[in-house]
Amino acid sequence: MRHIATFLFLSAAFVSCNNEPRPSTDDPALFREKPAPATTVSEPLPLPKSGAGNFESLVADFEDKDRGIWQKPELVISFLGDIKDETVADIGAGTGYFTFRLVPKAKKVIGIDIDPRFINFLDSVKVRLPAVYRDRFESRLAKFDDPLLQPEEADNVVIVNTYGYIENRVQYLKTLSKGIAPGGQLLIIDFKKNNLPVGPPDEYKVSLAQVERELTAAGFKVTKIDKDVLDYQYIILAIKPN
Ligand SMILES: C[S@@+](CC[C@H](N)C(=O)[O-])C[C@H]1O[C@@H](n2cnc3c(N)ncnc32)[C@H](O)[C@@H]1O
Repeated sequence: MRHIATFLFLSAAFVSCNNEPRPSTDDPALFREKPAPATTVSEPLPLPKSGAGNFESLVADFEDKDRGIWQKPELVISFLGDIKDETVADIGAGTGYFTFRLVPKAKKVIGIDIDPRFINFLDSVKVRLPAVYRDRFESRLAKFDDPLLQPEEADNVVIVNTYGYIENRVQYLKTLSKGIAPGGQLLIIDFKKNNLPVGPPDEYKVSLAQVERELTAAGFKVTKIDKDVLDYQYIILAIKPN
């Protein structure tokens, strides 16, 4: 039942964020069928802290029906500007909460994760998409220390609620930078410190000031910081200089 609810939610996300004419394949029957289940991996994986716990409960958490109230995904995506001719990489895509909201707006979206269960989940959603969107989306299983982007492949990168789980972040950002086109953007959103009703414990959070320092150390230029538009998270936008 959880998968059905999640798929209905993701499908509804497409409806709500799509400004383009609806393709004819967008048949209501599509929404009644169950997506292919995410494959269960047989071997225990070296999951990051964000991947600890039951997969179903992680999915339920990422796709919580009330998340939109505080996450404001459309407002967050608007920080990227016009992306219709651009490639966007979503690092730590999880269930695709942002990935699948980006697909109708971008030329191409790459959903990147290190957990094969989420890659399977993304692919189980992908097969249900109308062809016009399916062709714009690619999932990619990455490494802990490398998002495995091709040189200058992405015009925009988003990292939502994932930055604190990345280790050796300055080195990671330098590696990531190679996959971003000159002048390309990097949008990081993560939880503010202090006891919040949502998000991980404070020990897994990185302060805004530290993110800013790490971006600068890795050669990015911070162009925008917003601490107010989201109640529980900060937003930081940086560019890879030309
Ligand atoms: C808390 S979830 C956030 C998912 C999604 N961005 C969202 O906002 O719903 C963190 C995700 O990051 C992934 N992750 C953790 N470390 C990663 C890394 N080094 N590279 C790519 N993904 C990573 C986890 O597998 C998980 O899917």
